Amino acid sequence: MKSSAIAHSNIALIKYWGRSLDHNPNLNIPSNDSVSMTKYGLTHDVHLQTHTTIDFSDAYEEDMAILGGEVLTGRKMERVLGVVDPLREYANVDYKFKMMSKNDFPTRAGLASSASGFAALAIAAVNALGIDFSKEEISTYARLGSGSATRSIHGGFVYWNKGNSHETSFAEQICGPDEFDMNAVVAIIHEGKKDVTSDVGHESAYTSPFNEARIKKSQEQAKEIRKAILNDDFSEVGKIAEENCKYMHAVMMTSNPPLFYWHPETLKLIKSIQRIRKEGLECYFTIDAGPNVHCLCASDDICEFQRMLEEIECVNKTILLKPADDSYVTKEHLF
Ligand code: DP6
Repeated sequence: MKSSAIAHSNIALIKYWGRSLDHNPNLNIPSNDSVSMTKYGLTHDVHLQTHTTIDFSDAYEEDMAILGGEVLTGRKMERVLGVVDPLREYANVDYKFKMMSKNDFPTRAGLASSASGFAALAIAAVNALGIDFSKEEISTYARLGSGSATRSIHGGFVYWNKGNSHETSFAEQICGPDEFDMNAVVAIIHEGKKDVTSDVGHESAYTSPFNEARIKKSQEQAKEIRKAILNDDFSEVGKIAEENCKYMHAVMMTSNPPLFYWHPETLKLIKSIQRIRKEGLECYFTIDAGPNVHCLCASDDICEFQRMLEEIECVNKTILLKPADDSYVTKEHLF
């Protein structure tokens, strides 16, 4: 019972920040709908994807998961079991498993490794166990590992309905990768580990007095941005994404304890993007739980835009992105 899958990471245009207080926190049911672009790295060896193999067999005496050569223990293993245990139960299988996984990009550099990681795990495990699930159903199990992984099951542009139960909190595709023209350049200013993981950050969102307003606004913006994507309105998508990013960071900075993911260079880049936009090249920024900046632009402008960003002193390197295809099962096994 062995299967492998490849899944892509995603960048949120409408952010998930904070779990719903009405449900078991382990279910990762969010307080608002969110929207993302599943991303494919255009650099020859960094596609921002995870390749995972899982094997269920009576030959194993205990569960084992290895990521990039590290045997997972503690909270990391708990999150893997959070996805695999309910699937094993659903399939009525009590075999132990061995899982091996590798990212083609640095783990926890703010490039959302857990999204591609748990999406690949959910797809591989469902397939290995012979469960006949739709992509939407698979997305609910990816969610048990990491919220943003819910969206990484699909390619292109994706909508995660917050829902109000395990079954109703799922992701669906808004449109495929070729149906809306948006690319991105990630400007890397810092590659170190972040001090506070999103996993912990979600707990603190409610301590900000601005969080309730953010939830209400995000709920409206998720619907507006979906409409703008379907109307092929890049300007509207960029504007909404930028606004929503600022709402999330305002909540982070005003939580208790406060979370400042921005570095001084992050603000410098925001200012540069505003300047480039004023000069006539249309672009928008969005930032996840880290200091690096995703700069959204049209595909025709990506090389020009990359050149301009690389001229900025604090930018260490850039990664070019286009929307990815769906995540998928592969016959290439890691062991
Ligand atoms: C800021 O809980 O999915 O990226 O800690 O990597 O599992 P991990 O992150 P997750 O939170 C993601 C938070 C976000 C916004 C988003 O992706 O919607």
